[in-house]
Amino acid sequence: MTRAVVTGGAGFIGSHVADRLIDLGFEVLVVDSLVTGSLSNVPVAARFEQRDLLDSGLEGLLADWGAEVVVHCAAQVSVSLSVTDPTRDARSNVLGTVATIRGAIAGGCRTFVYITTAGALYGDPQYLPSDEAHPIAPISPYGLSKWVGERYLDLLGAEPMKRMVLRLANVYGPRQRSDGEGGVVSIFSERMKSGLALEINGDGAQTRDFVYVGDVVDAVVAAIAAEQSTTVNIATELATSVLELFDALAAISGYTDRPRFVAARAGDVRHSQLAIGKALRTLGWSPRTALEAGLAETFAGIAALPSSAESESE
Ligand SMILES: NC(=O)c1ccc[n+]([C@@H]2O[C@H](COP(=O)([O-])OP(=O)(O)OC[C@H]3O[C@@H](n4cnc5c(N)ncnc54)[C@H](O)[C@@H]3O)[C@@H](O)[C@H]2O)c1
Repeated sequence: MTRAVVTGGAGFIGSHVADRLIDLGFEVLVVDSLVTGSLSNVPVAARFEQRDLLDSGLEGLLADWGAEVVVHCAAQVSVSLSVTDPTRDARSNVLGTVATIRGAIAGGCRTFVYITTAGALYGDPQYLPSDEAHPIAPISPYGLSKWVGERYLDLLGAEPMKRMVLRLANVYGPRQRSDGEGGVVSIFSERMKSGLALEINGDGAQTRDFVYVGDVVDAVVAAIAAEQSTTVNIATELATSVLELFDALAAISGYTDRPRFVAARAGDVRHSQLAIGKALRTLGWSPRTALEAGLAETFAGIAALPSSAESESE
């Protein structure tokens, strides 16, 4: 069986990647500190090691496991935490990534997939849809630390290890926590499910490019199968306003209240929309999930769980 490592495989995106790799017949090792992830997300068929990427034994663990494929999803993912504690952010996202790359190389890795961000990398976009040649201009320590990870992969990763950089848009789907980069879908779903009042920061006309987690997993699989190293945006190239998103989720959930508009958050970009032509050309990938279908799946997943209020009171 081909061996794979998924760092961050107890988190939102990483656990979906681990599920799919197991379905495809990989023997999967999940490495996760559980700082934001949850053991219940880890597929039962995976081997699980609860470890921080900064653990001195990480490189030896990856070297011994000898994975052909490493999908590096673990990261400090909160933009606001990166602003208040840039040291912690840099430790996870820079030093943790360096250790993961070195462990992957020592284990004879053939394909390293680095999961990173598009929105936080391009900053306030100079043009839309932004392609991979857009100037890199992060406006948060998180955007910068994820960019430095890309540069390290380029510098330390050597042939024959294929280096695949997937720059993700705002990802949404089942298992997402309500405080990640794409958290607006889970926050809205969670509150609509419980019939709670909802606030929108700004006028709701700000747009984002929302990509479904299942489509992101398809992109990881395409990256593993690809012949050459590349860097691509993984997005939909569609701009959806926050108000459109609200209306779509309200229709799905039967929520009838109107949102309350509050002050826009400082540092939020106004519009984000990402070009996906390169992913189609180089990976043969394009998203398959229409927003309404993806939102319906996400809402169904959240509706099936006890609400946060209920689980907190347990
Ligand atoms: N969710 C999005 O919209 C989005 C958008 C762009 C990029 N990304 C990227 O996708 C990846 C996964 O993000 P997610 O949304 O699934 O977040 P998540 O918080 O659900 O997953 C991150 C996982 O990494 C683990 N982790 C964090 N720091 C660690 C460390 N130092 N050592 C070991 N484990 C650690 C956490 O416990 C968690 O399980 C990240 O690299 C993030 O930068 C996410």
